[in-house]
Amino acid sequence: MKQKKLLYTGKAKSVYRTDVKGKLIVEFRDDITAFDGGKKDTLKNKGSYNAGVSAFVFSYLEKNGVKTHFLEMLDEKRMVVCELSMIPLEVIVRNLAAGSIVRNYPFKEGTPLKPPVIVIDYKDDSRHDPMLNDDLTVALKIATPAELKRIKTIARKVNALLSGLLAKQGITLVDFKMEFGRQGKTIYLGDEISMDSMRLWDKKTGESLDKDVYRFNKGDVMVTYNRVAARITKKPGAAAKKTVVDPKKAKPKAR
Ligand code: C5P
Repeated sequence: MKQKKLLYTGKAKSVYRTDVKGKLIVEFRDDITAFDGGKKDTLKNKGSYNAGVSAFVFSYLEKNGVKTHFLEMLDEKRMVVCELSMIPLEVIVRNLAAGSIVRNYPFKEGTPLKPPVIVIDYKDDSRHDPMLNDDLTVALKIATPAELKRIKTIARKVNALLSGLLAKQGITLVDFKMEFGRQGKTIYLGDEISMDSMRLWDKKTGESLDKDVYRFNKGDVMVTYNRVAARITKKPGAAAKKTVVDPKKAKPKAR
């Protein structure tokens, strides 16, 4: 398969056309950003850790009946996906209160949310991804009521599957973000599921195992991504990859 024209550049991924109709290449770059792009860095191997975890999670979800855009990996950073017409929504499922809902609402961090809370934001950087409700989403013609219902059903199923998978590795899925797209009338899970889009806490220590390490300077984010990628994919190879450890940052504090 040949990589062709660059279609889209996001904050951490680039999307390319290929010589095969209906198939795109997503390249996971080594860029990391937080706070609406206010904090930015390029960190060696970051792209391959996120690509590896996304591929592993998508394959697991597919085996369990969730339709995703994932087809195969071309190499450590490049994923072949089926082309979707993307729906500009960020669908966040929250199992424990953390992050923006603790800042914006009177939740105490770590409070279990039962049933899990689904929050849907409008994906628009220029508007800082404002939160939507069903009426706004339908009025903006982003999705029909039936599509919204389907998206929420898939989101709950992915949450149950992913929480179970991570629990086996001693990891709590605090919350995570998904993006969806259409192919005809069928809704597919797209984008990525990685340490950039999930909030993960170690079940024993409470330590952050995700982009919060970078957002809030909790330690060396690449050491964390390397370890968590190995834990999730159960591949010792990921942990064996050499990452330069800054001894001052090597041991993130337990929460
Ligand atoms: O910041 P907030 O607490 O709302 O984020 C909830 C979850 O969604 C986190 O796991 C975060 O990493 C993810 N997220 C994301 N992309 C965004 C916003 C949130 O992956 N643009």
